[in-house]
Amino acid sequence: MWLACSKAPEAASPASPTGAAEGAQAAVGAEPAAVPSLARKYADFFPIGAAVNSRTLKSHADLLVQHFNSITAENEMKFESVQPTEGNFTFGPADEMVAFARQHGMKMRGHTLVWHRQTPDWVFSNGAGGNASKEVLLARLEKHIATVVGHFKGSVYVWDVVNEAIMDDGKFRTAEEQEPDQRSKWHGILGTSYIAAAFRAAHAADPGAKLFYNEYRNYLPAKRQAVYEMLKGLLADGVPVHGVGLQAHLSTEQSTDPSNHAYYQSIEELEKTIQLYASLGLEVHVTEVDMSVYVPGQKYEPSQFLTVETFTPELEARQAERYGQFFELFRKHQQAITSVTFWGIADDETWLSQFRSRRTDFPLLFDTKHRPKQAFERIMKF
Ligand code: XIL
Repeated sequence: MWLACSKAPEAASPASPTGAAEGAQAAVGAEPAAVPSLARKYADFFPIGAAVNSRTLKSHADLLVQHFNSITAENEMKFESVQPTEGNFTFGPADEMVAFARQHGMKMRGHTLVWHRQTPDWVFSNGAGGNASKEVLLARLEKHIATVVGHFKGSVYVWDVVNEAIMDDGKFRTAEEQEPDQRSKWHGILGTSYIAAAFRAAHAADPGAKLFYNEYRNYLPAKRQAVYEMLKGLLADGVPVHGVGLQAHLSTEQSTDPSNHAYYQSIEELEKTIQLYASLGLEVHVTEVDMSVYVPGQKYEPSQFLTVETFTPELEARQAERYGQFFELFRKHQQAITSVTFWGIADDETWLSQFRSRRTDFPLLFDTKHRPKQAFERIMKF
């Protein structure tokens, strides 16, 4: 389908040293020349990013350079990665990504400073089996942010400062959530004050960085409204917040069960969300797009897990259609949306096939052999 070598407009050249990348592909000979660049196609709309890890930075470098002009560290800038033990900051893997981004003229998003996950226990501990005091935890939060944001000053242009502080029902995430892995000790010890404190510390460390609040399932009406109220309150208090991240972990099928979050996973609901946040004068970044091919809420036996063989062209076509609809929405709101990032690059390396289940998923634009899928073709067609 992409056999014809379409000439890309040079002026819109994004990240890649285009000549070099395409030349390298052509030299291999086996592949048809030049799949048009996704980032170049979207150059007049928004940068197109991908989450990378230390492996994919190398194994997927060709795709990255050709199709993306922004990257996010999948794990390498999270608390447990950069300060695994108190006062010992380790920036090596993240620095490699920053160097890659710089080398290829890509933007670098920072992800994430304060989250209830992937944060080491020591952060919340008094060292004697109990919780750290408010003062100690606040000091740790401030030191972490000052050091990390300070380290990446001038390299990372935007930070997801606080991640996932609100639950699906619109209440703040507390230390009392039913599922242990849903609990936030930030809230347990500091209450909601940790949110403003994090933004203020980030701004102090790099006044030039854009500061975002990042959240998932923003299409849920109660959650959308709660995030809006929180952001409105922060802005009224003069807290430096510049944008909202919509994670956008999507699925090919909406749920038909009103008690399932994906019942609300529609273009209409997400559009309301974008408009509501933009009405606060905030930028919107779509920060973690992927699209699971399983129906949310439906139970699958291991024997029903899809494989490269059973992920049929028909399923791929449905996924492509829905990707097309969401990207149409994103383009429509290009005034508000200033970045769109995929949570991964190709189907051979996605958190959805690793995280919790061993269920193989096919959520991205490129297949396990790094070839463009129907979804790629679909979002390139406008
Ligand atoms: C995920 C990573 O992709 C996994 O490798 C890791 O094991 C867990 O975290 N929301 C976020 C991301 O904000 O940081 C998460 O990334 C996916 C959900």
